[in-house]
Amino acid sequence: MRSNISSPAGQQVWQALKDHQKSIAALQMRDLFTADPDRAKDLSISHNDLFIDYSKNRITKQTVDLLMSLAAAVNLKKKIDALFMGEPVNFTEHRAALHTALRAPADNTLPHNKAITSRVYEELERLRHFVEQLHAGEVRGSTGKAIKRVINIGIGGSDLGPRLVVEALYAYRKSDIDVAFAANLDAQDLGRILDDTDPATSLFIVTSKSFTTLETQANAQMAKDWLLKNGCTSIDHHFVAVSSNLEATAKFGISDERVFSIWDWVGGRYSVWSAVGLPVAVYTGMDHFMEFLGGAHSMDLHFYEAPLDRNIPVILGMLDIWYNNFFHAETLAVVPYDQRLRLLPEYLSQLVMESNGKRVDRADNTLECHSSQIVWGSVGTNAQHAFFQLLHQGNRLVPVDFLLPWQSSGCNKNHHKLVANCIAQGKALMLGRENIAEPHRHFPGNRPSTTITYKDLSPEMTGMLLAMYEHRTYVQSQVWDINPFDQWGVELGKQLAGEIISEMENNTSGTHHDPSTTQLLSRFLHNRK
Ligand code: F6P
Repeated sequence: MRSNISSPAGQQVWQALKDHQKSIAALQMRDLFTADPDRAKDLSISHNDLFIDYSKNRITKQTVDLLMSLAAAVNLKKKIDALFMGEPVNFTEHRAALHTALRAPADNTLPHNKAITSRVYEELERLRHFVEQLHAGEVRGSTGKAIKRVINIGIGGSDLGPRLVVEALYAYRKSDIDVAFAANLDAQDLGRILDDTDPATSLFIVTSKSFTTLETQANAQMAKDWLLKNGCTSIDHHFVAVSSNLEATAKFGISDERVFSIWDWVGGRYSVWSAVGLPVAVYTGMDHFMEFLGGAHSMDLHFYEAPLDRNIPVILGMLDIWYNNFFHAETLAVVPYDQRLRLLPEYLSQLVMESNGKRVDRADNTLECHSSQIVWGSVGTNAQHAFFQLLHQGNRLVPVDFLLPWQSSGCNKNHHKLVANCIAQGKALMLGRENIAEPHRHFPGNRPSTTITYKDLSPEMTGMLLAMYEHRTYVQSQVWDINPFDQWGVELGKQLAGEIISEMENNTSGTHHDPSTTQLLSRFLHNRK
């Protein structure tokens, strides 16, 4: 095994950033604002209705210059181009990662392969046709009743994206068809949904690129058994699939016309823009789904065209590097003051950590610096009553992303109070409040946050925000020269679970395990019902 140590630390500018961090670590942001009346304006950036204030970060203009020099030193612009050009940026699997092609307009000017665009549009047309038929009551179950409930069965990237977007676009829902999601291997997840579902009017979307994933296979089988037990004899009427494995979908009993494609150049966590977004298209109708893709495309154009120092994903990604590698902050808290984005922290934990939770670089050298930060969070104001104590007075540095809509959907008389709370939290974290006499009441302040604001959470804005986070994640990966598009780290656990499952099914606990595993396995065998 290779054991060379590598990191971008080899770059001269890395050392310069280290020195610079030492020289500004003691600076107080409040003093930086006093010294420079233009700071808020200068350290803000916008794109369409998206406006981002990153002035409450522990940076100076020199920090930004040095981070941009680092971006230049790692050839970031060339690496952005490589992503869009369809180069094999997924270098361990020798594949392109062309999620940007999934949301490009048919006449797009980005350098995608035209053949890809036409395949994407063929599939979008199939989706449109199916979604329109569903809403017209023309898709019927085996007893002849029109479908009224669609249940997505999938996990990871085949669940988190569509689940988040369906939740986010509640205001755009078409109320004739209800959409639900089941992911967990724990049968209580799907079980609760089935308790509340009429088999005759239900349709299951089995979303699985591989169509081999344990959880999804188990849940799809559970749904099939439930349908058969409840009088729905023709399974094909109650299932569609989103997969690249036509052999396995056919074996399961889903005919090819009811399978929507996903290609090997689409990674699971980057797939909501493909047919994996079918639950979104059903929930909102195809036109809103297209607006969602349009919003992401507008962020793609910005990422591809804007100069690095005016480029939102680049600035945010380089700030992540700054805190992660120079302040040694371990985590990033994501706090949407927008109930519609309730699932964003969980979605980002997969996007960022499955992408960048890596320890070796392109040349198989071990990274000397930390890669992905740990992404976590919850909605404001709930989070204020949970973990904000640590953000204000704990002794760790936790950069925060606030997400804040200026408008709220529907009649929300409390919206200004929600906005006020978000703004107040950023201010409190930054300014702090001195109380020398009572240390337990002292707020040290100087705690960084970035406020990501938008007019309203339209389908376009939802697409724009998710694409922004995708590209920000890519930026980080390119500084570390790691592959953000593979996920080998999930394999070992899967393999060991397979071995343990077969022992359980044979009622044996093998002797080859470590003592702790043997003990736990025997306890299960002894205690199970
Ligand atoms: O957890 C590993 C993973 O491969 C994810 O990357 C992926 O999104 C998920 O499993 C589901 O995979 P599939 O769509 O093949 O069922």
